[in-house]
Amino acid sequence: MGEWPTDVGIVALELFFPSQYVEQNELEAYDKVSAGKYTVGLGQARMGFCTDREDINSLCLTVVTRLMERYSISYSSIGRLEVGTETILDKSKSVKTVLMQLFENSGNTDIEGVDTINACYGGTAALFNSVSWVESSAWDGRFALVVAADIAVYAKGNARPTGGAGAIAMLVGANAPLVLERGVRATHMRHVYDFYKPDLMSEYPKVDGQLSIQCYLSALDKCYQLFCSKSERHGKEHFGLKDLDAVLFHVPYCKLVQKSLARLMLNDFVRASEEEQSLHYPGLEAFQDVKLEDTYFDRDIEKAFMTLSKSAFEEKTQPSLLVANQVGNMYTPSLYGGLVSLLISRGADELAGKRIALFSYGSGLASSMFSLHVSLDTNPGSPLKHLVANLTHIKSQLELRHKISPEEFDSFMEIREHNHHKAPYTPQASLDILFPGTWYLDNVDEMHRRSYKWVPHNGLSS
Ligand code: ACO
Repeated sequence: MGEWPTDVGIVALELFFPSQYVEQNELEAYDKVSAGKYTVGLGQARMGFCTDREDINSLCLTVVTRLMERYSISYSSIGRLEVGTETILDKSKSVKTVLMQLFENSGNTDIEGVDTINACYGGTAALFNSVSWVESSAWDGRFALVVAADIAVYAKGNARPTGGAGAIAMLVGANAPLVLERGVRATHMRHVYDFYKPDLMSEYPKVDGQLSIQCYLSALDKCYQLFCSKSERHGKEHFGLKDLDAVLFHVPYCKLVQKSLARLMLNDFVRASEEEQSLHYPGLEAFQDVKLEDTYFDRDIEKAFMTLSKSAFEEKTQPSLLVANQVGNMYTPSLYGGLVSLLISRGADELAGKRIALFSYGSGLASSMFSLHVSLDTNPGSPLKHLVANLTHIKSQLELRHKISPEEFDSFMEIREHNHHKAPYTPQASLDILFPGTWYLDNVDEMHRRSYKWVPHNGLSS
């Protein structure tokens, strides 16, 4: 087959989110919490959700179909397909095998990969596996396709406004416009019960909210420290936030991400010499001997570093929060929705040659920090220009969604709750509300076999 592939990474991206949402400020009033708790306190504007017409299989069918159509990719050019999700409908049959029905007409069944599960981290594991496949002796010259999708729903109560839903498809190959940088990837894994789903008859997780925040922040510290020291081993002295053009995070809710960027600055401060501390961090002498593990909920430190990192946040992270703010936590696609948001906010010319750091977190817990190098080629028709141009519909698609009242949202949630895993079952929600080009659940038969249909469209403008 010739030479080993170079510049392996993300070649194409497609994002899909549900066609309906609830306003977070209306949800505040409906839930009788103080005004501003969800919109300011959590930093969320809208939350996307699925009716009983969409499930994890339909979301993945939709996002793959859209990617293949938008980029005119042949189904026989895929040699690996892997799904990252924590939305489990079947303890044995993978979502990947459901997606194989899309490949039937092409006759291509020679496709490696199955599903990968660990809370919001499964998509990242699938991405790493796919990059490894392209870089390995098993590679046969074709693309890998990574799909990350979830329906994030919580029981009524304080976690419910941190839900969301969506799917991302990422085509992985050589000579990519977004290249995964080698030798710096940093991982931190531990056993902890911060968020988990032991009850397979329910869509809802068990959540220890405060513990999950502490675990997220401590995993961020560990991954960032390791990422910095690996980068220094590759010759970059005193590596830190200043060396990263953009920093993207898994987004449980936007406010936690703003705190996380501040936390990276705190890490830089802790790693700095006394001389550097007084030079670059004036007025923070009081925090010189601080231990990171004592600071997860320290208000003084949080306030000081959020103030100091404000412009770094606006420059490096805020542009990545568009989709998260509008759709909510999509779980596995959340981090990659951040990548899409950054690409459409900044554009190809501004991002060319830049380094983007990404922090992936899945409760339980599995976490990694890694980086993408953006190609320098911004000629018309270059892969980078093509990739960004194919995402320009996202902003208008967010606006094309239907607003649903909190009362209706609540009844849709009840329908999902009562019918989850019911067989036989015919979904009740209207098809009128779905975007054109969406796969939907048509029926579940008495043997729990699910069948899907497609809402036709006249070309993929949205
Ligand atoms: N105006 C402005 N801010 C307000 C208001 C108001 N009226 N009311 C409250 N706030 C602030 C609070 O001060 C708090 O700010 P802080 O985070 O800076 O302390 C914030 O809003 C949230 O309020 P809390 O009372 O802390 O919220 P609560 O404890 O009820 O729930 C939580 C928040 C724990 C995140 C919950 O939604 C949850 O469990 N979500 C799911 C778990 C999760 O997302 N964990 C994160 C990582 S794991 C993952 O990705 C699933």
